[in-house]
Amino acid sequence: MAQQPDRRDWWRDAAIYQVYPRSFADGNGDGTGDLAGIRARLPYLAELGFDAVWFNPWYPSPLKDGGYDVADYRAIDPVFGTLQEAEKLIAEARDLGIRTIVDIVPNHVSDRHPWFRAALAAGIGSPERELFHFAEGRGERGELPPNDWKSEFGGCPWTRIADGQWYLHLFATEQPDLNWAHPLVRQEHEEILRFWFDRGAAGVRIDSAGLLTKEPGLPDFEPGVDTHPFVDRDDLHGIYRSWRAIADSYEEPRVLIGEIWVPDTERFARYLRPDELHTAFNFDFLARPWSAAELRASIDGTLAAHAPVGAPATWVLANHDVTRTVTRYGREDTRFQFATKRFGTPTDLGLGLRRARAAALLSLALPGSLYLYQGEELGLPEVEDLPLSSLQDPMHFRSGGTDPGRDGCRVPIPWSGTLPPYGFAADGTEPWLPQPAGWAALTVAAQTGDPDSMLELYRAALHLRRERIAGGFGWLPSAPEVLAFARADGFGCLVNLGEAPAALPEGAEPVLSSGPLAEDGVPSDTAVWFEILDTRL
Ligand code: GLC
Repeated sequence: MAQQPDRRDWWRDAAIYQVYPRSFADGNGDGTGDLAGIRARLPYLAELGFDAVWFNPWYPSPLKDGGYDVADYRAIDPVFGTLQEAEKLIAEARDLGIRTIVDIVPNHVSDRHPWFRAALAAGIGSPERELFHFAEGRGERGELPPNDWKSEFGGCPWTRIADGQWYLHLFATEQPDLNWAHPLVRQEHEEILRFWFDRGAAGVRIDSAGLLTKEPGLPDFEPGVDTHPFVDRDDLHGIYRSWRAIADSYEEPRVLIGEIWVPDTERFARYLRPDELHTAFNFDFLARPWSAAELRASIDGTLAAHAPVGAPATWVLANHDVTRTVTRYGREDTRFQFATKRFGTPTDLGLGLRRARAAALLSLALPGSLYLYQGEELGLPEVEDLPLSSLQDPMHFRSGGTDPGRDGCRVPIPWSGTLPPYGFAADGTEPWLPQPAGWAALTVAAQTGDPDSMLELYRAALHLRRERIAGGFGWLPSAPEVLAFARADGFGCLVNLGEAPAALPEGAEPVLSSGPLAEDGVPSDTAVWFEILDTRL
């Protein structure tokens, strides 16, 4: 089913591009990406065939967590531009058929946010402190944290301030958690939603959407107890139902997309009931190793979990938090690495690229919506040798320097030329994170028109997906290490994750492949899209 720009349920099968604004394109020559840079590159995204763009946070922020420490939810950081420019960007993108998804961060604010500053100033027992989780410590003099929780970034999620109280931050110290039991917190976020929806945002991506509410009294974590004190709590659903009512009140209903890391697929699907979120990122698929059995299990589990609630699945291979696909699939351990990243892991980038190409065709052929993180369409590897002095991610610092953190997937995009900054910024400008030497062949300019490039593979696949792929899903018979399935109208996909060549189904005509095909079949680590007359789904 071809995407028609005005379909109300466009989000059910959309291809969505993720822009990390600091690293996409620098329009004003200060080495940091910005809205001017993005506006200039919108035709690139339209021409590639994307239906929407999700922007990582673009708000004023002290950047203690790449912008997920928000100081003002109703403005644009001056380093990126102005609110007026954001409005123009949203309108220009829409004119090109691209909808805008804004990232909202409801679990925590920056410690520079006016609410937190007021809470610090107002003192113990003040109404200002009730907007956060302030508590007395344990121990004789309150010198121990109030409970035994762990930060999502490692270490203790409590920080003690001068008057002796502690405050909760599930992420970095500079990201105090809001108290979602407080009506003002709810009201504020409902207004923030309206603020962006009124400016034409087609939807929001909800950061850390499974963590907002905490168990009253903030008790210790008790292993074996069914309910977690801060993950996936039942009272979250009421919040999302009220957000859905707001989203649905618009002439073109707005879309809610959750960042929800909940391994239990049934619990996960509860967020996608018809009066809650529209979709949520499918991290199960992203986290699986390069194995046919694992990926098959993930696809089956995903489709089975989504079916009863009538929500479409999402397919994601990478984002700004995880190791880039080409690098991950080039390692012996092909599971995604988050907190377990290590410096100097042996990697075969040739193998990784072959698999990443095959994974691209796999994910683009599955039913549901698709997210692509900037630079994946260029096959960029993780940058693993960033100078230590350039690293910015709190995950690196909170690990005591053992985890390289997430900067390696956030390096600015190479657009053209043979040397840094590769067209990301004006020549002679130093990007905020250094780009490696040796990216000349990976630029957009170098790959454009080269039929063997990752960019042209994505371009061809995105166009074919839009024109050709629709409807049902069914597995075709295959060897265990091969994934083969059909969609409606005789469209099929086969991915060979085994060693031996795999035969295409009889009568299958290849239309696109991730690598050269051999006489004896589809080679190892290769995917093929094909047409076949006798599949009816
Ligand atoms: C989400 C974001 C990540 C951020 C964290 C805290 O997981 O994707 O980048 O660090 O939330 O806001």
